[in-house]
Amino acid sequence: MGQKKLKHFVHLLLGMSFGDEGKGKVVIDLLQGVLGTKYRACVRYNGGANAGHTIFMDGKKYVTHQIPSGILVPGVANLIAHGVKVNPTKLLSEMEDLKKLGVKINNDNLFVDPAAHVVLPTHVMMDILSEDRASTVGQEIGSTKQGMKQVAVSKVGRESVRLHDVLMGNGKLEKLVSDHIDFIQRNYRPLLQEEFDRIEKDLAALKDSVKILQHIATFVDSMIFIREMLEEGPILGEGAQGFGLDMDHGTYPFVTSSNSGSGAFIEGTGVPFQWLDLEHVFGVAKFWYETRVGQGPFPTDISPGVKGWYTKEEHPLAYAIQNAGEHEEGSEKGATTQRPRQVGYFDLPFLQYAVERSGVTHLILTKADRPREEDCKKLLVCTGYRSDGSLVGPDENLMLMFDSVEPEYVEVAFVPAARDVLFDDQPEPVRRHMRLIKRRLGEGVEVPFMSVGPKPGQIVYVDRAPSVGGTLMKNGAEDRIIVPSSEG
Ligand code: GDP
Ligand code: IMO
Ligand code: MG
Repeated sequence: MGQKKLKHFVHLLLGMSFGDEGKGKVVIDLLQGVLGTKYRACVRYNGGANAGHTIFMDGKKYVTHQIPSGILVPGVANLIAHGVKVNPTKLLSEMEDLKKLGVKINNDNLFVDPAAHVVLPTHVMMDILSEDRASTVGQEIGSTKQGMKQVAVSKVGRESVRLHDVLMGNGKLEKLVSDHIDFIQRNYRPLLQEEFDRIEKDLAALKDSVKILQHIATFVDSMIFIREMLEEGPILGEGAQGFGLDMDHGTYPFVTSSNSGSGAFIEGTGVPFQWLDLEHVFGVAKFWYETRVGQGPFPTDISPGVKGWYTKEEHPLAYAIQNAGEHEEGSEKGATTQRPRQVGYFDLPFLQYAVERSGVTHLILTKADRPREEDCKKLLVCTGYRSDGSLVGPDENLMLMFDSVEPEYVEVAFVPAARDVLFDDQPEPVRRHMRLIKRRLGEGVEVPFMSVGPKPGQIVYVDRAPSVGGTLMKNGAEDRIIVPSSEG
């Protein structure tokens, strides 16, 4: 039996940094057709409720955690594949929040794979206990406290509970919770009666949530769903987190407990790799600077030592970038934990590392409109690293030495990219910085557009005329799409 010939393929979208690159916003841009591709479906396949994607649209602020951002685009079918670690109670409240904002969610546009592993209340409890204990000796990861490590441990330990098990009522859930309680009492402390009561209540809520979920969404096998959708149109895989947080390729152990590189899609959905369109792997990175939440090496941190708790007086530049534009303009505060994001200078070697190792063919640079001009005239850009005095080469594993490298910087003039201006007419510092990035990444990596605002449609085409990939569709965004000049 040969492989089935497909009509359409899967395009992937991945974060190139430490998460929060603006993936959610760019997902909406792509689903609304800024490159002329009419996607049939959007698939979340990794991470879990640790992800937080903020999208400003139609005058409202939407935040997605476990639900694919495509839920905001009519006509797009959305799958939570089995690679997502599902917290059913949180999923339901996320759904309620979106519904309150007028988002339609039903069994025509939301699909869930019952083989997804379930985050239990005790996983979350252990995450909190373990992080709190580690923090007393300065060894915490700075997790989002969503139980991501603990559910991953259960999964590799072959004792995890899947949505299917909860539906079957086969006792696996109760067994694992009871084991967790033993573990917590042996390793941390005796639980209080109110904590036992809380666990029981949360478990009941979890079971109810799964039942409700089964009515609202359609339960499907990820691979079969994707095969059917690919008959009708291309699919966009919405990656969570970023390459630096990938368990295998990132700054281990300061990573999340799953993969965020391109391989995660194959494992997280169960589709054969031939179904991926290898010519459409989108990487997302911020244009002028980097951010990171939690612990772990961040060598280009503009004001190191304070973990993002910048003050206007002592850390003016980092503070200005972090706080540039409160709500609708996308300031740098975590959507899941509300923690301030650490701000670092733009990191070319790290971007090159992430782009190469995840097979990115299209790089989309976001927040090109930030920081504000009045806050900044010049920025540094990291162009290389030294380890023990020697320059780190492009073929070395940068992540292995990331906690001890010395950045080398060049100074660049800074001007935010303008919204209603074609790329060729952007200020020279914008075009120069883009040339620097493109030269570093070399042939084979296209920059179709950059993002210049938090609202979908706020983009400026760079290498791509919208007619190249098909017909430009009306995107319904508030801002008009900038149609590029004929040359790239
Ligand atoms: P994600 O996790 O990668 O989806 O990113 P987040 O949503 O956590 O963080 C990115 C933030 O920047 C969000 O508040 C977005 O609305 C906002 N954002 C995305 N692209 C742009 C842009 O081009 N300009 C501005 N000003 N904000 C943006
Ligand atoms: P999105 O999809 C930013 C970080 C945490 C912590 C580390 C481990 O919005 O880009 P975990 O809770 O996963 O065990 O935490 O990973 N982290 C993220 N940082 N954006 C995310 O997702 C993140 N998901 C996890 O801050 O440093
Ligand atoms: Mg985020």
